[in-house]
Amino acid sequence: MTENDFQFCHAELATELRQHDKAYYVDAKPIISDHGYDRLYHELLDLERDHPELVTPDSPSQKVGGAPVEGFKNTRHAVPMMSLDNTYSPDEVRNFVKRVQKLLPEEELEWTVEPKVDGVAINLRFENGILVSGVTRGDGTTGDDITANIKTIRGLPLKIQSADLPSILELRGEVYMTRSGFVNLNAKRETDGEEPFVNARNATVGTLKQLAPQITAQRPVQVVLYGMGQVEGQIPPTQQKFLAWLRSLGVKSSERTWLCKSEDELIAAIEELDQVRGDFDYETDGAVMKLNSVALREKCGSTSKAPRWAMAYKYAPDQAETLLRGITIQVGRTGALTPVAELEPVFLAGSTVQRATLHNEEDMRRKDVHIGDRVIIEKAGDIIPVVVKVLKEKRDGSEKEFVFPDKCPECSSDVARDSTIGAGKVVLRCQNTDCPAQVRGRLEQFCARGAMDIEGGGEVMVRQLVEKGLVQDVAELYRLKVEEVSALERMGEKSARNLIDGIAGSKKRELWRLVFGLGILHVGAGVAKALTRCFPDLDGMMAANQDQLGELNEIGPVIAESVSTWFSDSRNRDVIERLRKAGLEFQSSLYQAGDEPGPFTGKTFVLTGTLPTLKRAEAAELVEARGGKVSSSVSKKTTCVVAGEEAGSKLAKAEKLGVQIVDEAEFLKLCEP
Ligand code: IVH
Repeated sequence: MTENDFQFCHAELATELRQHDKAYYVDAKPIISDHGYDRLYHELLDLERDHPELVTPDSPSQKVGGAPVEGFKNTRHAVPMMSLDNTYSPDEVRNFVKRVQKLLPEEELEWTVEPKVDGVAINLRFENGILVSGVTRGDGTTGDDITANIKTIRGLPLKIQSADLPSILELRGEVYMTRSGFVNLNAKRETDGEEPFVNARNATVGTLKQLAPQITAQRPVQVVLYGMGQVEGQIPPTQQKFLAWLRSLGVKSSERTWLCKSEDELIAAIEELDQVRGDFDYETDGAVMKLNSVALREKCGSTSKAPRWAMAYKYAPDQAETLLRGITIQVGRTGALTPVAELEPVFLAGSTVQRATLHNEEDMRRKDVHIGDRVIIEKAGDIIPVVVKVLKEKRDGSEKEFVFPDKCPECSSDVARDSTIGAGKVVLRCQNTDCPAQVRGRLEQFCARGAMDIEGGGEVMVRQLVEKGLVQDVAELYRLKVEEVSALERMGEKSARNLIDGIAGSKKRELWRLVFGLGILHVGAGVAKALTRCFPDLDGMMAANQDQLGELNEIGPVIAESVSTWFSDSRNRDVIERLRKAGLEFQSSLYQAGDEPGPFTGKTFVLTGTLPTLKRAEAAELVEARGGKVSSSVSKKTTCVVAGEEAGSKLAKAEKLGVQIVDEAEFLKLCEP
């Protein structure tokens, strides 16, 4: 095949993948299976690996996130990002309509009602159809440039096309985390021993603040658009047509909207939206009413803070008052102690709530929670109930302070404060790795769908296996016999056989699943995959020391320490040996030949400027063939910058950060054996 053929293949694959992204994220009508999508995507990656010159900035591969950034640049908005005034009752809605009618006495007004998405506001700038920046609202005048993170969002095209597309088109909307994605992310954080996010909005904020776009790329965030900023060119004349036009461009816009011609219709639409908003895949905290005609909006103008032609209607949050009967402590897989509120059952947003999280000791102290308090609970992001407030005025003196245990409630061992989880947070941890709660947690984690996917290995089964002393660690699962399992309570021969078959079937699971299943602190599925991409087998991973692990892309110092500590513990090594004897898969299927340990393993190079003899792809090949990685931007993690003629900002940054800089001749020397 000629270079042109490869280019053609690449363009075809990229177009096909973009069409599938639109079908999935914008139209919600996927055409192919996830598996089919992955196959196409890997084809594209393979092609780009062999022909790095084909990687265009708008290639779907760029959605995995580039190199970490140092911080976010402050960017001024071309058109300020305003806020909205709020209404809370039908009367206020009527007053709003009257005010606008007064401004436009001659006009028959038409309104749209849209969901008010509870996400993070964003301004996306497209220049000649290419997405050039994504900037947060910030203070309305300047925001953070989070382009690298925004580009990882799967449903957002990096390029849009249509006849007469404005040369400058700023689209505005909200980045949000899908409800289902939020639940899964929090479940995973808990299994990884990390603090769960309080709600989907906080999770989105945390995700967009990531300096490593590769982490953002793994998070289930999406974007929905409803407005515009600077526009150089023509756009549709009404909000309804504008939203439909956005969809035709392949971007998601408020899909459920109402067109209203009177105050009554507006109020009815707001009520109807309240009925259906629970079905959306994003959180909403209200409705937004807007004049449909763009021309009329301009006649209305704005106050210093908000447009006069739009208004939010805020729905009351789903809250309930109840009695806090008691506080129990849950011990997780990593020994983390989490306080749980045991509540008098109360109906809230569609279900009866009996338990709510109290997060941690610090949070409880801040809210001054006592047993016997009347409390307000809320469904955070409408999903996990949380205690948001204590009604201190309702105390009668009988309330009792809760004393955090200094012993583990499961095994009575000592607990200690662990502050390595970051963000100044402290978690109490049981120090006994044989604690039954931890043993159960580790087994559940190992059997989980996202890890070794062992059918029949759910919570109830694991509890019985541990209680009866049949299994103490994950390797012992592979010695279980059908007779032992069928002798357990309420366990028939069939279920027992099912479990044993499930365990046997798991022996051939991919290595990353095993690494994830081992339950190493801070090693989620993403980190497990990253590790197995870097090592050909488990032995290689175990042999790497903390420094070597820390130098790998995607692995920070906290993870490196956790992994090396785990593998150096003789008891864990013993588990690994028994898993090996049981015949589990220790070879990595994700390992890429380019990652073979070599003189550049763990090293990251940045190539900049024009080199005298080598083409950039040739230099990249030299790095990768020696186990190194090539990155497009300079950061503290960069090992070496290879600079040619007319090297610009990357060279300056390398100088500023004190990163090693070499010319082509020195680079070729480094490549010598
Ligand atoms: S229109 C000039 N439409 O709510 C501001 N805003 O509380 C025009 N929001 O700052 C905004 N959903 O971030 C608009 N469908 C929607 C919205 C929406 C969420 C956010 C937006 C705004 C905030 C005001």
